[in-house]
Amino acid sequence: MEASRCFLLVAIFFFLSIGGSCAAQDVQIVNAERRIDLASHIVKVYLTLKIENIGTSSVTEVLLAFPPTQVNHLALVKAQAAVGKRKKKTYVPLDVKSKDLPDGPNGTKYFSIYLLDPLNPGEALTLEILYMLTHSLEPFPLEISQSESQLVYFRDSAFILSPYHIKEQTTFIKTPSKRVESFSVVEPTNRAGLELKYGPYNDQSPFSYSPILVHLENNNAFAVVEDLVREVEISHWGSIQITEQYKLVHAGARHKGGFSRVEYQGKPGYNGVSSFKNLLARLPPKVHSVYYRDDIGNISSSRLRVGSQKSELEFEPRYPLFGGWKATFVIGYGIPMEDFLFESPDGRRYLNFSFGCPLSETVVDKLTVKIVLPEGSQEPSVVVPFEVKQSLERKYSYLDVVGRTVVVLEKTNVVPEHNSPFQVYYQFKPIFMLAEPVMLISVFFLLFVTSITYLHLDLSLRK
Ligand SMILES: *[C@@H]1O[C@H](CO)[C@@H](O)[C@H](O)[C@H]1NC(C)=O
Ligand SMILES: *[C@@H]1O[C@H](CO)[C@@H](O)[C@H](O)[C@H]1NC(C)=O
Ligand SMILES: *[C@@H]1O[C@H](CO)[C@@H](O)[C@H](O)[C@H]1NC(C)=O
Repeated sequence: MEASRCFLLVAIFFFLSIGGSCAAQDVQIVNAERRIDLASHIVKVYLTLKIENIGTSSVTEVLLAFPPTQVNHLALVKAQAAVGKRKKKTYVPLDVKSKDLPDGPNGTKYFSIYLLDPLNPGEALTLEILYMLTHSLEPFPLEISQSESQLVYFRDSAFILSPYHIKEQTTFIKTPSKRVESFSVVEPTNRAGLELKYGPYNDQSPFSYSPILVHLENNNAFAVVEDLVREVEISHWGSIQITEQYKLVHAGARHKGGFSRVEYQGKPGYNGVSSFKNLLARLPPKVHSVYYRDDIGNISSSRLRVGSQKSELEFEPRYPLFGGWKATFVIGYGIPMEDFLFESPDGRRYLNFSFGCPLSETVVDKLTVKIVLPEGSQEPSVVVPFEVKQSLERKYSYLDVVGRTVVVLEKTNVVPEHNSPFQVYYQFKPIFMLAEPVMLISVFFLLFVTSITYLHLDLSLRK
């Protein structure tokens, strides 16, 4: 009995694994081009895959494979299909989701790209894929002094990791400067200017992998916000108020030795090349009452440009940031209600605001967005174009009767591409707009009654 059940299980597993591999063998990659951009501290990889269905049944999804070390640092994976030829070429965005398959060789993890139309046997299609990796440039040496340049390691494979056979492939790695200390060679490998070229390689079987290590100079601002809390407070009485609390760190090679401000100011280009000082926040158009302060107080050395399309706040922490140094600060501003708060056709109200972090080229390890709805709002629902953790809180401020609903959205590993609009819908009964004035009147009335009583008491005592 046990034996037969066991046999059945084995048979099912066998069947499943055959099924899985069959799907993989239906597809082959005719041509693959990979461009890895190491210009900032966020690694951007652009993949162009020309896929072909060489099987006998149609294909609806295409798998992307990542080594387990990269999956943990993957901030974003996007895909689109090229439709039409040459000048009439357009791109259609496709759904990409992480796929729970049994791990491939060496713990390979998968993402699935869902095609709009099934790819029939014999047909080909070009896919454009973009993915981004954070914390993937490893400083070496681990510590540098003020006058030294920052060097980092980048690890990957010369061959694109894929469950499919790849007929021809080439990888280009773009470095931020011409200084490359060393790089692995997997023939043919060439270097010219800011570019390293691996390949072309022909006929690589599925899961081919050949580790490479590039040791390069990268002095771009390794700006990482370890924790960002953005609070958006909606009041039906005035504007929308935003408060953003930042814990910023320089995540590059740690600073060693002392810091000389004299040397830093004398030759900033040579001294402290890997440090950063200027920060740029892209704020919504028409912002008002902007402030920027840290633990000590207001910082006035900031420049604000307000436009009808966007606003920019340029500011500096009190000191330049070197590797491992941190700065904690708060930015606050108000935005006009009519640009961000709307009424949907079904009568609900909604906020349409930008997710993500306003600082340019910055990684946020943990982002929390809190939307404080007006008092009396009900049934909040959220539309965000990617996966976030959602929860509800309640907040009381001084004139509140029942408190306000706070929608809390949390996301880890956030990059600038996450700065896309999201919406929070809610029901609002205008009668609740009277809550605050009623509360105010009640407070005055109570005061009035108390003082009258007190006066009467006083008089009666004197008699
Ligand atoms: C798995 O890892 C081992 C050791 O790192 C390596 O030798 C082997 O080629 C890898 N296999 C695949 C299929 O990637
Ligand atoms: C800081 O600046 C803002 C806006 O300019 C102002 O409203 C606030 O009172 C200032 N705070 C302090 C402590 O100076
Ligand atoms: C939200 O705002 C963006 C522009 O910032 C706009 O493109 C989009 O259509 C808006 N979405 C909704 C649902 O209003």
